[in-house]
Amino acid sequence: MPDTVIRNATIIDGTGAPRFVGDVSIEDGHIAEIGEISSSVVDLEVDATDLVLAPGFVDVHTHDDGALMQHPDMTFKVSQGCTSVVVGNCGFSAIPAVTGESTLDLSGVEASWNDLDGYRDAVEGSNPAVNAMMLVGHNTIRTLEMKGERGAPNDRQLLRMREHVELAMQQGACGFSTGLIYRPGRWADTEEVLDLAKAVAPFGGIYATHMRNENDHLLEAVDEALHIGAEAGIAVQISHHKAAGRRNWGKVTESLAKVDAAVAQGARVTLDVYPYTAGSGPMVQYFDINNPDPELAQVIQLASCPAFRGYEGRMIIDIASELDMSASETVQHILTAPEGKQTICIQHVMDEGDVVTNLRHDRVMVGSDGIPDLTGRPHPRLFGTFPRVLGRYVREQGVLDLESAVRRMTSLSCDVHGLQDRGRVAVGNWADLVLFDPSLVLDVASYEDPKRESVGINNVWVNGQLAFEEGHHTQIGAGRVLRYREH
Ligand code: ZN
Ligand code: CU
Repeated sequence: MPDTVIRNATIIDGTGAPRFVGDVSIEDGHIAEIGEISSSVVDLEVDATDLVLAPGFVDVHTHDDGALMQHPDMTFKVSQGCTSVVVGNCGFSAIPAVTGESTLDLSGVEASWNDLDGYRDAVEGSNPAVNAMMLVGHNTIRTLEMKGERGAPNDRQLLRMREHVELAMQQGACGFSTGLIYRPGRWADTEEVLDLAKAVAPFGGIYATHMRNENDHLLEAVDEALHIGAEAGIAVQISHHKAAGRRNWGKVTESLAKVDAAVAQGARVTLDVYPYTAGSGPMVQYFDINNPDPELAQVIQLASCPAFRGYEGRMIIDIASELDMSASETVQHILTAPEGKQTICIQHVMDEGDVVTNLRHDRVMVGSDGIPDLTGRPHPRLFGTFPRVLGRYVREQGVLDLESAVRRMTSLSCDVHGLQDRGRVAVGNWADLVLFDPSLVLDVASYEDPKRESVGINNVWVNGQLAFEEGHHTQIGAGRVLRYREH
């Protein structure tokens, strides 16, 4: 007997197929029936008239490795309709780690684990509201094995790095990630990355990359990513596809053409995008502390700034004029202060037209790249990404249709990242579901007021349990750390 029946829903099943009206029942965490369900006595009946029922959204690009334990209710994701997150992106993952030390991802939580099995125990012990899938990060394993060494690894170091990748894959990671713009990833040559990418091939894993360049040398960076995928024989996920800097705007058309050409030759390549014209990350990674780029400094806003909390939410140029300094001097003043290196900034460097071009492309999925530091003023993508695509780009601008948007938040994401039996409203699948109002759904988080939950998301089920009900968090934590392609 089902525990939940959702009646008269407009079902968008995640495959891209047209919507249809029907009932869906849930039993023991799974979707039991779809169609016209004759009533029986159930725990919960939901009238979904005029609402869309879709597979729960999968945020394929997150830095939620630590947040699953720090904020197990994961309000900023659940309130967007997300039921699973992929962690370990941009080369920074919470595994491997040294017990008792800070993890080498963006959260820096204290690790009670060494590997993915230990991390899984720790996360599941916190009862997170959403599921997670891990990528093992190159920056993390390079820092563990080589500290700050800039040269190529010696044979022993390379072997140890390979072993970390293999162990993570054995324990259920979906692949290997790089952040080749960041230290220490930027010191790695293509051969080093290729060698490690090859270690995921026997497991059928993927290569997810924050590429070496996203501005003047974007196209060369795409070539490198495609080369690594082709040589290693694995699928490539290009992270947060963008062209930064005014003189590069429009280039995403050319990089998507490169992807299309590679796919036509048999390569497996997909991408993700967040629907905003600003990026965000650790400020110390974007500037030469001795000589900060004055042009970039013009477009920087501060998200988290533990050294000067009063600067959070403000533009560097405004702080600079107040301090009677140049923008570059202000960047230095912040980065050299105690805790200054923990500053997270927002860079206003992209073009709206490029966001639209990305969203129109069939192989582009949605990923927030949100950085879950809730003490500051995070980039609004942390709270707004999925409803923003559905409200602003689907309903208001008609950039893509709802079925296509849902597919690129669900089945495509699950197929590529190996979330087995998820991403489709299909009998037997896990009941990860979102019920939303297509006429209302919209982000309300802004750069000025970024921690606001979106509107129009009604209910969210994770593994058949209600995580979000009529706009309220139930505090039920039914999420798990998933294993790649396992039932
Ligand atoms: Zn990145
Ligand atoms: Cu990222």
